Amino acid sequence: MIAPSSHAPFDDYRGRRVLVTGGLGFIGSNLARRLVDLGAEVRILDALVAEMGGTLHNVDGFADRLAIRIADMREWDPTTLAVDGCDIIFNLAGQVSHIDSLRDPRGDLGINVDAQLQLLDVLRHHNPRARVVFTSTRHVYGRAQRVPVDETHPIHPPDVNAINKVTAEAYHRLYQEIFGIPSSILRLTNVYGPRQLIRHNRQGFIGWFVRLAMEDREIEVYGDGSQQRDLLFVDDAVEALLLVGLSEACVGRTLNVGGPEPIAHRDLVKRLIAAAGTGRARFVDWPADRKAIDVGSVWLDSTRLHEATGWQPRTSLDEGLARTVAYYRPRLAAYCAPAGAGEIELA
Ligand SMILES: NC(=O)c1ccc[n+]([C@@H]2O[C@H](COP(=O)([O-])OP(=O)(O)OC[C@H]3O[C@@H](n4cnc5c(N)ncnc54)[C@H](O)[C@@H]3O)[C@@H](O)[C@H]2O)c1
Repeated sequence: MIAPSSHAPFDDYRGRRVLVTGGLGFIGSNLARRLVDLGAEVRILDALVAEMGGTLHNVDGFADRLAIRIADMREWDPTTLAVDGCDIIFNLAGQVSHIDSLRDPRGDLGINVDAQLQLLDVLRHHNPRARVVFTSTRHVYGRAQRVPVDETHPIHPPDVNAINKVTAEAYHRLYQEIFGIPSSILRLTNVYGPRQLIRHNRQGFIGWFVRLAMEDREIEVYGDGSQQRDLLFVDDAVEALLLVGLSEACVGRTLNVGGPEPIAHRDLVKRLIAAAGTGRARFVDWPADRKAIDVGSVWLDSTRLHEATGWQPRTSLDEGLARTVAYYRPRLAAYCAPAGAGEIELA
């Protein structure tokens, strides 16, 4: 269901000191852009980790309205400086690729667990009253025993990435219980939209499909394409983050953030090809490495978040795809180039 009206005006962000970890990445940069428009004093902490979604292209046009610290959250000193004096921390720094988490499990552990523990420990010593919103993933549920999946569904991580995200969730809960750091955990479904990584195909399928369609190439759909997902446009994910960041009712809670309605991969590809005006689908057998971690059809129940904040996704798939294509059209070459190529200079 698509909600007709807009959410709160978010006036309370004006003048707030807000840190976005992973703020040069896909969701973080969309959030940072919205926060500066709302009048928040925004800092970004991002290591621009190779092969991830972080790029300075993502802050093109508003980089001069926020502070950017290129540093690794696994290190104590830069993290201390970044959290100092912050009111709200959107903790989005993470390794997103499930495939990469199996190729380099300890790399994933370092970013999705060690860096998270480091941030929490720095907060404990330097800013324990900061409000934290942590982005976890729908993937922690694994293969769905029932749909839609609500927060009471058993946790069954199907890969290294999901195990590490569950662990980071547990650290956020623990540091709230023991040290009083007020946090909320959001389990996001597949998010898509402007500023998403489209350079390679290891960070989920949507960004890659968008690129292939826009380059008028063949999109490989695995199996018969009947597996279903709920896809969430990034502006709606940002609204969820903003609402939770101000919500007392969400402190100490774990909340799903799902998309409007589930759609089969084959139908998604059809609608994407229509939005792009180019591209074509080809059905292929599942590659072994993808099949091994596929969780079948799954979509989320976001009732808990809706009841706490009034949030609902507002962007239909067709509108979201059209806006995504429109964003990349003049920027396709920049987003497909190797990481770091042709980046804007920081002032
Ligand atoms: N994109 C999705 O569909 C999706 C779904 C579920 C959950 N999430 C979660 O949302 C968050 C953001 O995802 P995204 O899609 O924007 O990914 P992204 O790859 O675009 O951004 C992640 C950013 O984190 C930064 N980063 C990673 N490790 C860091 C470290 N140690 N120190 C500083 N910066 C570091 C990277 O450089 C990158 O810019 C992640 O935690 C991810 O697990 C995303």
